[in-house]
Amino acid sequence: MPNVFVTGASGTIGHGIALEYARRGYDVAVHYNRTAEPAVKLAEEIRAMGRKAVLIKGDISSVEEIGRMFREFEEQLGEVDVMVCNAGVTVIFPLLEANEKLFDRVVDTDFKGTFFCTSFAAKNMIAHKVKGTVIVISSNHDKGCWMNFAAYASVKAGLDKFVMNAAMELAPHGIRVVGIAPGYTATEEANRTHVAFGIEDTSYYDGVTSCIPLKRFGTATEVGKLAYFLSSEDAGYITGTTVTCDGGALLPALTGKWKLMKGADPLDPTLDEWPDKLNDPNARRKKKQQI
Ligand SMILES: NC(=O)c1ccc[n+]([C@@H]2O[C@H](COP(=O)([O-])OP(=O)(O)OC[C@H]3O[C@@H](n4cnc5c(N)ncnc54)[C@H](OP(=O)(O)O)[C@@H]3O)[C@@H](O)[C@H]2O)c1
Repeated sequence: MPNVFVTGASGTIGHGIALEYARRGYDVAVHYNRTAEPAVKLAEEIRAMGRKAVLIKGDISSVEEIGRMFREFEEQLGEVDVMVCNAGVTVIFPLLEANEKLFDRVVDTDFKGTFFCTSFAAKNMIAHKVKGTVIVISSNHDKGCWMNFAAYASVKAGLDKFVMNAAMELAPHGIRVVGIAPGYTATEEANRTHVAFGIEDTSYYDGVTSCIPLKRFGTATEVGKLAYFLSSEDAGYITGTTVTCDGGALLPALTGKWKLMKGADPLDPTLDEWPDKLNDPNARRKKKQQI
């Protein structure tokens, strides 16, 4: 059976990715760092599907820890067929209030962690003569800009570049490296109940989705399905690129619909009125006169 190593499987997107690979017949290394309970439950769920699931704990901001995690993987499952570098933190802070601790947290986890997980996974693949795939979970912050995300967004943009370079270096070994840039993503349950990121106020969900062309959050399962496709033979000619999976959330930004708001919230309750205002020739003429 092929093996997949999913970092951050105790979290929302990692859970969806791990389950999707299990459904497709993979044995799964379920990685977690601080929250064991969801990882243990997920491993049980995967075993109930008739697949093997092993638990691997570790902090990916430490290269030493990553080395240990891969030794454990090797002992328990052997070869890495697919590596999904998903674990990450979304640390939000204004540039003017930045401090080294916050900066290091996001860079060490999201960038250094992904970089070294890819490196260790590739070494395992080469040692086992596996023409595997590394999937890097980026974010649509790689291209879009939201207030107070300077560190996170820069790291995610950096990961897209990393995907390109890693793909070029690993291509001679038959290893592909592909990124996925999700937008707002939650569990199916959260989508059904309109609860976003555990925020019980459903108006938050409605407010955000009103700005997304497909009018809903993405689901962790959808990211899982995309990861599976990109690592499958059907995507065998795809490498060194990052696929955006965000319901078109970045598209209004290109046409000026997004408005940057105070804090990290990019929402404007009057946003839906904008297109009318913009299309009203009288309003445009008035604006011109003011200028
Ligand atoms: N959800 C979204 O809307 C969204 C959108 C775009 C991109 N993303 C990206 O998708 C990935 C997963 O996000 P998510 O929403 O599923 O987040 P999440 O629910 O908060 O889960 C994050 C996962 O990363 C793990 N993790 C955090 N710090 C770690 C560290 N130092 N060492 C090892 N593992 C660590 C966590 O492990 P423990 O909890 O066990 O500590 C958890 O499993 C991230 O890379 C994120 O940037 C998410």
